[in-house]
Amino acid sequence: MALPALGLDPWSLLGLFLFQVLLLLLPTPTAGGGGQGPMPRVKYPAGDGRRALSFFHQRGLQDFDTLLLSDDGNTLYVGARETILALSIQDPGILKLKNMIPWPASEFKKAECAFKRKSTETQCFNFIRVLVSLNATHLYTCGTFAFSPVCAFIELQDSYLLPISEDKVLDGKGQSPFDPAHKHTAVLVDGMLYSGTMNNFLGSEPILMRSLGSKPVLKTDTFLRWLHPDASFVAAIPSSKVVYFFFEETASEFDFFFEKLHTSRVARVCKNDVGGEKLLQKKWTTFLKAQLLCVQPGQLPFNIIRHAVLLPAESPDVPRIYAAFTSQWQVGGTRSSAVCAFSLADIERVFEGKYKELNKETSRWTTYRGPETNPRPGSCSVGPSSDKALTFMKDHFLMDEPVVGTPLLVKSGVEYTRLAVETAQGLDGRSHLVMYLGTHTGSLHKAVVSEDSSAHLVEEIQLFPDPEPVRNLQLAPTQDAVFVGFSGGIWRVPRANCSVYESCVDCVLARDPHCAWDPESHTCRLLTEPHPNSWKQDMERGNPGWACASGPMGRSLRPQSRPQIIKEVLAVPNSILELPCPHLSALASYHWSRGTAATPAASSTVYNGSLLLVLRDGVGGLYQCWATENGFSHPVVSYWVDSQDRPLAQDPELAGIPRESVEVPLTRVGGGALAAQRSYWPHFLTVTVLLAVVLSGALIILLASPLGALRARGKVQGCESLPPGEKAPLSREQHLPPSKEPRASVGDVDAEKHLGTEVA
Ligand SMILES: *[C@@H]1O[C@H](CO)[C@@H](O)[C@H](O)[C@H]1NC(C)=O
Ligand SMILES: *[C@@H]1O[C@H](CO)[C@@H](O)[C@H](O)[C@H]1NC(C)=O
Ligand SMILES: *[C@@H]1O[C@H](CO)[C@@H](O)[C@H](O)[C@H]1NC(C)=O
Repeated sequence: MALPALGLDPWSLLGLFLFQVLLLLLPTPTAGGGGQGPMPRVKYPAGDGRRALSFFHQRGLQDFDTLLLSDDGNTLYVGARETILALSIQDPGILKLKNMIPWPASEFKKAECAFKRKSTETQCFNFIRVLVSLNATHLYTCGTFAFSPVCAFIELQDSYLLPISEDKVLDGKGQSPFDPAHKHTAVLVDGMLYSGTMNNFLGSEPILMRSLGSKPVLKTDTFLRWLHPDASFVAAIPSSKVVYFFFEETASEFDFFFEKLHTSRVARVCKNDVGGEKLLQKKWTTFLKAQLLCVQPGQLPFNIIRHAVLLPAESPDVPRIYAAFTSQWQVGGTRSSAVCAFSLADIERVFEGKYKELNKETSRWTTYRGPETNPRPGSCSVGPSSDKALTFMKDHFLMDEPVVGTPLLVKSGVEYTRLAVETAQGLDGRSHLVMYLGTHTGSLHKAVVSEDSSAHLVEEIQLFPDPEPVRNLQLAPTQDAVFVGFSGGIWRVPRANCSVYESCVDCVLARDPHCAWDPESHTCRLLTEPHPNSWKQDMERGNPGWACASGPMGRSLRPQSRPQIIKEVLAVPNSILELPCPHLSALASYHWSRGTAATPAASSTVYNGSLLLVLRDGVGGLYQCWATENGFSHPVVSYWVDSQDRPLAQDPELAGIPRESVEVPLTRVGGGALAAQRSYWPHFLTVTVLLAVVLSGALIILLASPLGALRARGKVQGCESLPPGEKAPLSREQHLPPSKEPRASVGDVDAEKHLGTEVA
């Protein structure tokens, strides 16, 4: 910029120069952030007041892994380590403990567990793994019980838990894992528990089992290797005639790869299966499995399934299963995640298709091309005595075709650990799929899927200050909330806080089906039934130009091209003004304008979104920060910088717009004495310090031997050859961002002054 042309006193010049240095030194906030895939439009850091969450925790309790919603939706049962709790969730403000019952592993089992070299700090406890509602008066629960799984019935009284009596405790092998680190799943259907877990202490024998209830207990056959020894179950979903299991295992049909190849699977068993009479006694006679494929064309598949849910079939659509995947391969040092949708019809079709069989000579899996038998092996009409079908079943349990899903969301840099889905009806009466996705670093993404099967992320809420995985998610539709379990407690996350969108434009651009703009009250509101016709929303296009137009001219009127309110700022000569611009959306691009000019005057610069304006004659006037999102531009904030020559009152263009006087951060740089107000002062100090560091560093390099200079150059070149992902952290280390703590800066100043005099 043309500094000499400014005609400022030396202090102002120095100030402006220092800003330029600051800009050069700081990493640009947008560079390298977020990875690929849709960006969350708004990110809330942990503890942000705009997304106030209620939290339940209790001294001495941890690992809130298992969640169960009561049938009436008013109580949340929680399985924590060695304890089961009942929480009242009716009051949106708080999660109230109704009561809790201890269920610790016995001292004997704990000693035995320690003897087997398991940790008494982290493993030899009773981790609750299964918690299901058995009937109106009883829950059924299972836990790892210090590597010796057990189950128990819990009697309920008015949704309070009664203590577990010793005589109601049963063996839990095959229902709960031994090791708390092993995955498992269980679902209760018609009074019977269908569970998928590890069935032994070593964790080498997966099992898919049916227990409880009146029908015979059935298991997978270990000897026939229906499951690979590392199979890891993540979900069990009942359908009308069958129960589906979702898991991941090493793919033996692709074992010609050098690398161990993981694959995701869906398996199914028939509810009416009773096991075989002569063959396959007490074993499933209808076990079939197929590959689940979640892949974007031309990319590596997302081959590790993390969780799957069925969308409750209220919609006119076919029921679909939504599943979160990660990949076994890391690209550029980060894992990616995907969410795929699978239609139940596709899954059924694959199970009715061809089988694979193992060619014993070549050890390869090939398509079975032999004769079809009747009844069809693996179908739900196979009886216990159809020996021919059962013999065939023993080694024809893998389907030939994979079930191919539709990718709805692909995002790098995150690992989704759990998901919950629901539909939300928008103003247009259409239903929109909403997905809540928990990540391995403790945040929650709210994703909305458009008609064209692409998802946008409405928001990201960081739940915990320290990154750790989300363990469980439970949607509570009647409470308008999602409950999140993690190591230290339970969060209640309301579906939406529409009030964070303060303008119609922001409300519409958010494209949150739960929020709509109410022009009467001028607020963005939670969409409830019934609602007045005047409310505005545009889920498909997110076009505020259409949705926020109002008044007699209807749609043709361009909304918000005029500012809603003008913030008046008093100009103090010889000072630097900092005009902040709130960045409401990460999807928008921002720029400043002055009056009708696209760019502000030369005596200004933009830092961290704020306009820094050096005040001198003729800079008064209108300054606006514009956001452009989804092809629509609007002023986010408008300032009028007062000066004698341009009083706001005389500008006819801006007549009738309400104004308010505001104070903004201001630094005086005139009159020799440096006096500062507000937050700019620490920046200024830090910049001074940084400048001193840079200058002294440069001096040292200049004064040092040619060898030193050469070495320094070599290092710089070394940095440049790093992959792009590595660059950002390195450069951040090199140029420390200015500390916001004034104390630290002052300390540094002393040190630097000292250094400065030495160099001089
Ligand atoms: C919603 O957002 C508004 C505006 O930021 C804030 O005042 C309010 O506390 C928030 N409410 C909740 C429940 O997060
Ligand atoms: C619920 O199940 C428990 C345990 O099997 C049983 O004792 C109880 O009678 C059942 N209650 C009802 C109402 O069916
Ligand atoms: C950038 O601006 C935001 C708000 O506008 C503020 O919270 C943040 O501290 C600023 N960052 C720096 C480095 O000044």
